[in-house]
Amino acid sequence: MTETSVPKTSVPKLDTAGSSANDPGLAQDWGERYSHNLLGVFGSPQMCLVEGHGCHLTDAAGNSYLDLLAGIAVNALGYSHPAWVEAVSRQAGTLAHVSNFFTTPGQLALAEKLLSIAQAPEGSAAFFCNSGTEANEAALKIVKAHRKGGRVIALEHAFHGRTLGALALTYKEAYRAPFAPLGAEVTFVPAEDAAALEGELSKGDVAGVFVEAVQGEAGVIPLSADYLREVRRLTSEHDALLVFDEVQCGMGRTGQWFAHQAAGIQPDVMTLAKALGGGFPMGATVTFGPQISAILTPGQHGTTFGGNPLACAAALAVISTIESDHLLDNVTAIGQRLIDGITGCHPRVLEVRGRGLLLGVQLDADIAGEVVTAARSAGFIINAANPSTIRLAPPFILTEAEADSFIDALPGLLDAVTATTSEKEN
Ligand SMILES: Cc1ncc(COP(=O)(O)O)c(C=O)c1O
Repeated sequence: MTETSVPKTSVPKLDTAGSSANDPGLAQDWGERYSHNLLGVFGSPQMCLVEGHGCHLTDAAGNSYLDLLAGIAVNALGYSHPAWVEAVSRQAGTLAHVSNFFTTPGQLALAEKLLSIAQAPEGSAAFFCNSGTEANEAALKIVKAHRKGGRVIALEHAFHGRTLGALALTYKEAYRAPFAPLGAEVTFVPAEDAAALEGELSKGDVAGVFVEAVQGEAGVIPLSADYLREVRRLTSEHDALLVFDEVQCGMGRTGQWFAHQAAGIQPDVMTLAKALGGGFPMGATVTFGPQISAILTPGQHGTTFGGNPLACAAALAVISTIESDHLLDNVTAIGQRLIDGITGCHPRVLEVRGRGLLLGVQLDADIAGEVVTAARSAGFIINAANPSTIRLAPPFILTEAEADSFIDALPGLLDAVTATTSEKEN
Protein backbone atom coordinates (compact mmCIF):
# COMPACT_ATOMS: atom_id res chain seq x y z
CA MET A 1 0.00 0.00 0.00
CA THR A 2 1.42 3.39 -0.97
CA GLU A 3 1.30 6.25 1.42
CA THR A 4 -1.20 8.14 -0.74
CA SER A 5 -3.70 5.25 -0.63
CA VAL A 6 -4.25 5.80 3.10
CA PRO A 7 -7.16 8.22 3.48
CA LYS A 8 -6.14 11.22 5.54
CA THR A 9 -8.99 12.30 7.74
CA SER A 10 -8.87 15.20 10.06
CA VAL A 11 -9.42 13.72 13.51
CA PRO A 12 -10.16 16.20 16.26
CA LYS A 13 -7.55 15.88 19.01
CA LEU A 14 -9.27 14.30 21.99
CA ASP A 15 -8.13 15.32 25.42
CA THR A 16 -7.70 11.71 26.52
CA ALA A 17 -5.43 12.68 29.40
CA GLY A 18 -8.37 14.76 30.53
CA SER A 19 -6.19 17.15 32.46
CA SER A 20 -8.06 20.26 33.48
CA ALA A 21 -5.14 22.35 32.16
CA ASN A 22 -5.97 21.10 28.65
CA ASP A 23 -9.70 21.24 29.21
CA PRO A 24 -10.63 24.09 31.54
CA GLY A 25 -14.35 23.18 31.33
CA LEU A 26 -13.86 19.63 32.61
CA ALA A 27 -14.13 20.50 36.30
CA GLN A 28 -17.56 22.03 35.65
CA ASP A 29 -19.12 19.77 33.05
CA TRP A 30 -17.87 16.20 33.68
CA GLY A 31 -20.93 15.24 35.73
CA GLU A 32 -23.37 16.32 33.06
CA ARG A 33 -21.30 14.69 30.29
CA TYR A 34 -21.17 11.48 32.32
CA SER A 35 -24.90 11.26 32.98
CA HIS A 36 -25.58 12.08 29.34
CA ASN A 37 -23.31 9.44 27.82
CA LEU A 38 -22.57 6.61 30.25
CA LEU A 39 -24.84 3.79 31.35
CA GLY A 40 -26.08 4.52 34.85
CA VAL A 41 -25.10 1.22 36.47
CA PHE A 42 -22.53 2.84 38.78
CA GLY A 43 -24.74 5.72 39.89
CA SER A 44 -23.09 9.15 39.83
CA PRO A 45 -19.29 9.08 40.14
CA GLN A 46 -17.88 10.92 43.13
CA MET A 47 -15.35 12.85 41.06
CA CYS A 48 -13.46 12.95 37.79
CA LEU A 49 -9.83 11.88 38.29
CA VAL A 50 -7.12 12.99 35.92
CA GLU A 51 -3.76 11.92 37.28
CA GLY A 52 -2.05 9.66 39.81
CA HIS A 53 1.48 9.35 41.22
CA GLY A 54 2.50 7.07 44.06
CA CYS A 55 -0.47 6.88 46.43
CA HIS A 56 -1.88 10.24 45.37
CA LEU A 57 -4.62 11.14 42.89
CA THR A 58 -5.63 14.50 41.41
CA ASP A 59 -9.14 15.39 40.30
CA ALA A 60 -10.32 17.62 37.47
CA ALA A 61 -10.55 20.62 39.80
CA GLY A 62 -6.89 20.17 40.80
CA ASN A 63 -7.58 18.74 44.29
CA SER A 64 -5.26 15.98 45.43
CA TYR A 65 -6.11 12.95 47.55
CA LEU A 66 -4.29 10.22 49.43
CA ASP A 67 -5.77 7.06 47.93
CA LEU A 68 -6.47 4.35 50.51
CA LEU A 69 -8.65 2.34 48.13
CA ALA A 70 -6.33 1.75 45.12
CA GLY A 71 -9.10 1.26 42.56
CA ILE A 72 -10.66 -1.28 45.00
CA ALA A 73 -7.58 -3.35 45.80
CA VAL A 74 -6.09 -3.04 42.32
CA ASN A 75 -3.19 -0.56 42.16
CA ALA A 76 -0.69 -2.55 44.22
CA LEU A 77 2.21 -0.37 43.05
CA GLY A 78 0.19 2.85 43.28
CA TYR A 79 0.00 5.10 40.23
CA SER A 80 2.58 5.68 37.50
CA HIS A 81 5.10 3.36 39.16
CA PRO A 82 8.27 3.60 37.03
CA ALA A 83 8.73 -0.20 36.76
CA TRP A 84 5.11 -0.74 35.67
CA VAL A 85 5.14 2.21 33.24
CA GLU A 86 8.43 1.06 31.75
CA ALA A 87 7.25 -2.56 31.32
CA VAL A 88 3.89 -1.63 29.76
CA SER A 89 5.39 1.07 27.50
CA ARG A 90 8.18 -1.21 26.30
CA GLN A 91 5.72 -4.01 25.60
CA ALA A 92 3.32 -1.64 23.81
CA GLY A 93 6.16 -0.73 21.49
CA THR A 94 7.12 -4.38 20.92
CA LEU A 95 4.01 -6.54 20.72
CA ALA A 96 0.71 -5.49 22.29
CA HIS A 97 -1.69 -8.27 21.36
CA VAL A 98 -1.69 -11.66 19.65
CA SER A 99 -4.41 -14.28 19.57
CA ASN A 100 -4.30 -17.31 21.82
CA PHE A 101 -3.48 -19.35 18.70
CA PHE A 102 0.00 -18.21 19.72
CA THR A 103 1.94 -17.73 22.93
CA THR A 104 4.52 -15.11 23.91
CA PRO A 105 7.57 -15.01 26.19
CA GLY A 106 5.73 -12.88 28.75
CA GLN A 107 2.82 -15.31 28.94
CA LEU A 108 5.17 -18.24 29.55
CA ALA A 109 7.15 -16.32 32.16
CA LEU A 110 4.04 -15.11 33.98
CA ALA A 111 2.49 -18.59 34.18
CA GLU A 112 5.75 -19.99 35.57
CA LYS A 113 6.07 -17.17 38.09
CA LEU A 114 2.45 -17.41 39.28
CA LEU A 115 2.65 -21.17 39.78
CA SER A 116 5.88 -20.70 41.68
CA ILE A 117 4.54 -18.07 44.13
CA ALA A 118 1.36 -20.15 44.53
CA GLN A 119 3.59 -23.09 45.51
CA ALA A 120 1.55 -25.12 43.03
CA PRO A 121 2.74 -28.70 42.44
CA GLU A 122 3.99 -30.10 39.14
CA GLY A 123 1.10 -30.41 36.68
CA SER A 124 -0.57 -27.16 37.81
CA ALA A 125 -1.61 -24.62 35.18
CA ALA A 126 -2.77 -21.02 34.64
CA PHE A 127 -5.55 -19.69 32.41
CA PHE A 128 -5.44 -15.94 31.80
CA CYS A 129 -8.49 -13.73 31.35
CA ASN A 130 -9.40 -10.08 31.91
CA SER A 131 -11.29 -9.74 35.19
CA GLY A 132 -12.29 -11.40 38.43
CA THR A 133 -15.71 -12.40 37.24
CA GLU A 134 -14.20 -14.13 34.21
CA ALA A 135 -11.69 -15.94 36.40
CA ASN A 136 -14.63 -17.25 38.43
CA GLU A 137 -16.57 -18.25 35.30
CA ALA A 138 -13.64 -20.44 34.28
CA ALA A 139 -13.48 -21.91 37.79
CA LEU A 140 -17.22 -22.59 37.72
CA LYS A 141 -16.90 -24.46 34.42
CA ILE A 142 -14.14 -26.59 35.96
CA VAL A 143 -16.36 -27.32 38.96
CA LYS A 144 -19.37 -28.17 36.78
CA ALA A 145 -17.28 -30.41 34.54
CA HIS A 146 -15.89 -32.17 37.62
CA ARG A 147 -19.37 -33.40 38.65
CA LYS A 148 -21.98 -32.97 35.96
CA GLY A 149 -25.34 -31.78 37.31
CA GLY A 150 -23.82 -31.18 40.75
CA ARG A 151 -24.68 -28.29 43.04
CA VAL A 152 -22.20 -25.61 44.03
CA ILE A 153 -21.75 -24.21 47.54
CA ALA A 154 -20.83 -20.62 48.27
CA LEU A 155 -20.76 -18.68 51.52
CA GLU A 156 -23.36 -16.25 52.78
CA HIS A 157 -22.31 -12.64 52.04
CA ALA A 158 -19.88 -13.81 49.34
CA PHE A 159 -19.17 -11.70 46.27
CA HIS A 160 -17.75 -13.43 43.21
CA GLY A 161 -18.72 -11.15 40.32
CA ARG A 162 -21.51 -9.94 38.05
CA THR A 163 -21.59 -12.27 35.04
CA LEU A 164 -24.30 -14.90 35.24
CA GLY A 165 -22.19 -17.75 36.59
CA ALA A 166 -20.26 -15.62 39.08
CA LEU A 167 -23.49 -13.84 39.99
CA ALA A 168 -25.04 -17.20 40.89
CA LEU A 169 -22.22 -17.52 43.47
CA THR A 170 -22.81 -14.01 44.82
CA TYR A 171 -25.02 -13.83 47.89
CA LYS A 172 -26.78 -10.46 47.66
CA GLU A 173 -30.36 -11.02 46.54
CA ALA A 174 -30.69 -7.51 45.07
CA TYR A 175 -27.87 -8.28 42.61
CA ARG A 176 -29.26 -11.72 41.69
CA ALA A 177 -33.04 -11.51 41.66
CA PRO A 178 -33.59 -9.44 38.48
CA PHE A 179 -31.55 -11.86 36.39
CA ALA A 180 -32.69 -15.32 37.51
CA PRO A 181 -32.32 -18.02 36.36
CA LEU A 182 -28.56 -17.72 36.79
CA GLY A 183 -25.67 -19.87 35.58
CA ALA A 184 -25.49 -22.47 38.36
CA GLU A 185 -27.50 -24.05 41.16
CA VAL A 186 -25.89 -22.62 44.27
CA THR A 187 -26.57 -23.29 47.94
CA PHE A 188 -25.30 -20.72 50.44
CA VAL A 189 -24.03 -21.74 53.85
CA PRO A 190 -22.89 -19.48 56.71
CA ALA A 191 -19.15 -18.83 56.95
CA GLU A 192 -17.30 -20.38 59.92
CA ASP A 193 -19.97 -23.08 60.24
CA ALA A 194 -18.25 -26.32 59.22
CA ALA A 195 -21.26 -28.39 60.32
CA ALA A 196 -23.54 -26.56 57.86
CA LEU A 197 -21.03 -27.21 55.08
CA GLU A 198 -20.71 -30.85 56.04
CA GLY A 199 -24.51 -31.18 56.05
CA GLU A 200 -24.64 -30.08 52.40
CA LEU A 201 -21.57 -32.04 51.28
CA SER A 202 -22.86 -35.25 52.82
CA LYS A 203 -25.86 -35.19 50.43
CA GLY A 204 -23.31 -36.37 47.85
CA ASP A 205 -24.24 -34.05 44.96
CA VAL A 206 -21.87 -31.12 45.50
CA ALA A 207 -19.42 -30.38 42.69
CA GLY A 208 -17.46 -27.62 44.37
CA VAL A 209 -17.20 -24.98 47.10
CA PHE A 210 -16.20 -21.34 46.51
CA VAL A 211 -14.54 -19.46 49.39
CA GLU A 212 -12.84 -16.10 49.90
CA ALA A 213 -10.26 -16.44 52.69
CA VAL A 214 -11.00 -12.79 53.51
CA GLN A 215 -14.52 -11.83 52.43
CA GLY A 216 -13.92 -8.39 50.96
CA GLU A 217 -17.28 -7.05 49.80
CA ALA A 218 -18.97 -8.59 52.85
CA GLY A 219 -17.17 -5.98 54.98
CA VAL A 220 -13.64 -7.43 55.17
CA ILE A 221 -14.33 -10.59 57.15
CA PRO A 222 -11.24 -12.79 57.54
CA LEU A 223 -12.12 -16.48 57.90
CA SER A 224 -10.22 -18.44 60.54
CA ALA A 225 -7.41 -20.81 59.57
CA ASP A 226 -9.17 -23.60 61.48
CA TYR A 227 -12.35 -23.17 59.45
CA LEU A 228 -10.44 -23.03 56.16
CA ARG A 229 -8.55 -26.22 57.05
CA GLU A 230 -11.87 -27.89 57.88
CA VAL A 231 -13.30 -26.76 54.53
CA ARG A 232 -10.27 -28.33 52.83
CA ARG A 233 -10.69 -31.58 54.74
CA LEU A 234 -14.42 -31.84 54.07
CA THR A 235 -14.24 -31.00 50.36
CA SER A 236 -11.50 -33.60 49.85
CA GLU A 237 -13.50 -36.19 51.79
CA HIS A 238 -16.61 -35.59 49.65
CA ASP A 239 -14.79 -35.21 46.31
CA ALA A 240 -15.94 -31.61 45.85
CA LEU A 241 -13.48 -29.10 44.38
CA LEU A 242 -12.31 -26.28 46.63
CA VAL A 243 -12.03 -22.94 44.83
CA PHE A 244 -10.34 -20.02 46.58
CA ASP A 245 -11.46 -16.69 45.13
CA GLU A 246 -8.38 -14.54 45.76
CA VAL A 247 -9.50 -11.79 43.40
CA GLN A 248 -9.52 -9.21 46.21
CA CYS A 249 -7.40 -10.77 48.96
CA GLY A 250 -4.69 -12.32 46.75
CA MET A 251 -1.48 -11.13 45.08
CA GLY A 252 0.13 -9.98 48.33
CA ARG A 253 -2.66 -7.87 49.78
CA THR A 254 -2.71 -9.75 53.09
CA GLY A 255 1.10 -9.76 53.41
CA GLN A 256 1.39 -13.25 51.94
CA TRP A 257 1.13 -13.90 48.22
CA PHE A 258 -2.25 -15.58 48.71
CA ALA A 259 -4.55 -15.35 51.72
CA HIS A 260 -5.27 -19.10 51.89
CA GLN A 261 -1.54 -19.75 52.43
CA ALA A 262 -1.95 -18.55 56.04
CA ALA A 263 -3.99 -21.71 56.69
CA GLY A 264 -1.27 -23.94 55.19
CA ILE A 265 -3.63 -25.54 52.68
CA GLN A 266 -3.75 -25.98 48.92
CA PRO A 267 -6.85 -25.21 46.85
CA ASP A 268 -7.94 -27.18 43.80
CA VAL A 269 -8.55 -23.95 41.92
CA MET A 270 -7.64 -20.33 42.68
CA THR A 271 -8.96 -17.22 40.96
CA LEU A 272 -7.12 -13.90 40.68
CA ALA A 273 -7.57 -10.43 39.18
CA LYS A 274 -7.43 -6.89 40.64
CA ALA A 275 -3.80 -6.46 41.87
CA LEU A 276 -2.51 -9.04 39.37
CA GLY A 277 -2.22 -6.45 36.58
CA GLY A 278 -1.64 -3.50 38.94
CA GLY A 279 -4.16 -1.43 36.94
CA PHE A 280 -4.05 -3.32 33.66
CA PRO A 281 -7.24 -5.44 33.35
CA MET A 282 -6.22 -9.02 33.98
CA GLY A 283 -7.49 -12.16 35.69
CA ALA A 284 -6.26 -15.70 36.11
CA THR A 285 -7.62 -19.11 37.04
CA VAL A 286 -5.01 -21.46 38.49
CA THR A 287 -5.58 -25.23 38.61
CA PHE A 288 -3.57 -27.18 41.18
CA GLY A 289 -2.12 -30.52 40.08
CA PRO A 290 -2.50 -32.58 36.90
CA GLN A 291 -5.96 -33.99 37.60
CA ILE A 292 -7.61 -30.60 38.04
CA SER A 293 -5.60 -29.14 35.15
CA ALA A 294 -6.99 -31.87 32.86
CA ILE A 295 -10.69 -31.22 33.59
CA LEU A 296 -11.21 -28.63 30.85
CA THR A 297 -10.16 -30.00 27.48
CA PRO A 298 -9.22 -28.08 24.29
CA GLY A 299 -12.16 -26.07 23.00
CA GLN A 300 -14.10 -26.05 26.29
CA HIS A 301 -13.04 -22.53 27.25
CA GLY A 302 -11.28 -19.54 25.71
CA THR A 303 -10.85 -15.77 25.41
CA THR A 304 -9.61 -13.32 22.81
CA PHE A 305 -7.74 -10.89 25.05
CA GLY A 306 -6.83 -13.05 28.05
CA GLY A 307 -3.09 -13.27 28.69
CA ASN A 308 -2.08 -10.87 25.94
CA PRO A 309 1.48 -9.53 25.98
CA LEU A 310 0.57 -6.14 27.47
CA ALA A 311 -1.35 -7.68 30.37
CA CYS A 312 1.42 -10.20 31.05
CA ALA A 313 4.09 -7.47 31.00
CA ALA A 314 2.06 -5.47 33.54
CA ALA A 315 1.59 -8.49 35.82
CA LEU A 316 5.26 -9.48 35.63
CA ALA A 317 6.22 -5.91 36.59
CA VAL A 318 3.83 -6.07 39.57
CA ILE A 319 5.22 -9.37 40.84
CA SER A 320 8.88 -8.52 40.31
CA THR A 321 8.50 -5.11 42.00
CA ILE A 322 6.70 -6.66 44.98
CA GLU A 323 9.66 -9.03 45.28
CA SER A 324 12.51 -6.58 44.64
CA ASP A 325 11.07 -3.86 46.90
CA HIS A 326 10.06 -6.30 49.67
CA LEU A 327 6.51 -5.01 49.48
CA LEU A 328 4.98 -8.01 51.27
CA ASP A 329 6.90 -6.88 54.37
CA ASN A 330 5.64 -3.33 53.86
CA VAL A 331 2.05 -4.60 53.53
CA THR A 332 2.37 -6.45 56.85
CA ALA A 333 4.09 -3.58 58.70
CA ILE A 334 1.86 -0.75 57.43
CA GLY A 335 -1.25 -2.89 57.87
CA GLN A 336 -0.34 -3.44 61.52
CA ARG A 337 0.40 0.27 61.93
CA LEU A 338 -3.08 1.11 60.62
CA ILE A 339 -4.70 -1.50 62.89
CA ASP A 340 -2.80 -0.20 65.95
CA GLY A 341 -3.46 3.44 65.10
CA ILE A 342 -7.17 3.11 64.32
CA THR A 343 -8.16 0.62 67.04
CA GLY A 344 -9.57 2.67 69.92
CA CYS A 345 -8.88 6.00 68.18
CA HIS A 346 -12.52 7.06 68.63
CA PRO A 347 -15.53 5.66 70.55
CA ARG A 348 -17.38 5.08 67.26
CA VAL A 349 -14.73 2.60 66.06
CA LEU A 350 -15.76 -0.81 67.36
CA GLU A 351 -13.17 -2.98 65.67
CA VAL A 352 -10.53 -3.08 62.92
CA ARG A 353 -10.64 -6.38 60.99
CA GLY A 354 -8.61 -7.89 58.22
CA ARG A 355 -5.03 -8.70 57.33
CA GLY A 356 -2.22 -6.74 55.73
CA LEU A 357 -3.61 -3.92 53.64
CA LEU A 358 -7.16 -5.22 53.40
CA LEU A 359 -8.84 -3.73 56.45
CA GLY A 360 -12.40 -3.12 57.59
CA VAL A 361 -13.08 -0.44 60.18
CA GLN A 362 -16.32 -1.41 61.94
CA LEU A 363 -18.30 1.61 63.08
CA ASP A 364 -21.06 1.67 65.68
CA ALA A 365 -23.80 2.75 63.23
CA ASP A 366 -24.59 3.08 59.53
CA ILE A 367 -22.42 6.15 59.02
CA ALA A 368 -19.75 4.73 56.67
CA GLY A 369 -21.15 6.66 53.69
CA GLU A 370 -20.95 9.95 55.60
CA VAL A 371 -17.41 9.17 56.74
CA VAL A 372 -16.37 8.47 53.13
CA THR A 373 -17.74 11.89 52.10
CA ALA A 374 -16.06 13.69 54.99
CA ALA A 375 -12.79 11.90 54.23
CA ARG A 376 -12.96 12.98 50.60
CA SER A 377 -13.38 16.63 51.64
CA ALA A 378 -10.32 16.19 53.85
CA GLY A 379 -8.27 14.69 50.98
CA PHE A 380 -8.60 10.92 51.55
CA ILE A 381 -10.17 8.30 49.31
CA ILE A 382 -11.71 5.44 51.28
CA ASN A 383 -14.81 3.31 50.71
CA ALA A 384 -17.84 1.94 52.53
CA ALA A 385 -17.75 -1.86 52.14
CA ASN A 386 -21.19 -1.87 53.78
CA PRO A 387 -23.23 0.84 55.58
CA SER A 388 -21.28 0.46 58.83
CA THR A 389 -17.83 -0.60 57.60
CA ILE A 390 -15.06 1.50 56.04
CA ARG A 391 -12.75 -0.46 53.78
CA LEU A 392 -9.06 0.38 53.42
CA ALA A 393 -7.20 -1.32 50.56
CA PRO A 394 -4.34 1.07 49.74
CA PRO A 395 -1.36 0.53 47.43
CA PHE A 396 1.34 -1.75 48.86
CA ILE A 397 3.80 1.18 48.69
CA LEU A 398 1.92 3.21 51.32
CA THR A 399 4.46 4.85 53.65
CA GLU A 400 4.33 5.21 57.44
CA ALA A 401 3.82 8.97 57.08
CA GLU A 402 0.91 8.48 54.68
CA ALA A 403 -0.71 5.90 56.97
CA ASP A 404 -0.22 8.22 59.95
CA SER A 405 -1.88 11.13 58.15
CA PHE A 406 -5.10 9.10 57.91
CA ILE A 407 -4.79 7.75 61.46
CA ASP A 408 -4.43 11.34 62.71
CA ALA A 409 -7.36 12.62 60.64
CA LEU A 410 -9.90 9.86 61.39
CA PRO A 411 -11.04 10.96 64.89
CA GLY A 412 -11.78 14.47 63.57
CA LEU A 413 -13.72 13.00 60.63
CA LEU A 414 -15.80 10.87 63.01
CA ASP A 415 -16.47 13.90 65.25
CA ALA A 416 -17.59 15.93 62.24
CA VAL A 417 -19.91 13.16 61.03
CA THR A 418 -21.31 12.72 64.54
CA ALA A 419 -22.02 16.46 64.78
CA THR A 420 -23.74 16.57 61.37
CA THR A 421 -25.82 13.43 61.89
CA SER A 422 -27.00 14.48 65.36
CA GLU A 423 -27.85 17.94 63.97
CA LYS A 424 -30.01 16.24 61.31
CA GLU A 425 -31.71 14.06 63.93
CA ASN A 426 -32.62 17.07 66.10
C1 LIG B 1 -13.74 -11.58 45.77
C2 LIG B 1 -14.11 -11.03 44.43
N1 LIG B 1 -14.36 -11.88 43.42
C3 LIG B 1 -14.70 -11.44 42.20
C4 LIG B 1 -14.83 -10.09 41.94
C5 LIG B 1 -15.21 -9.61 40.57
O1 LIG B 1 -14.09 -9.05 39.95
P1 LIG B 1 -14.28 -8.08 38.68
O2 LIG B 1 -14.95 -6.86 39.16
O3 LIG B 1 -12.87 -7.86 38.20
O4 LIG B 1 -15.09 -8.83 37.70
C6 LIG B 1 -14.58 -9.18 42.96
C7 LIG B 1 -14.74 -7.72 42.73
O5 LIG B 1 -14.85 -6.93 43.61
C8 LIG B 1 -14.22 -9.66 44.24
O6 LIG B 1 -13.99 -8.82 45.26
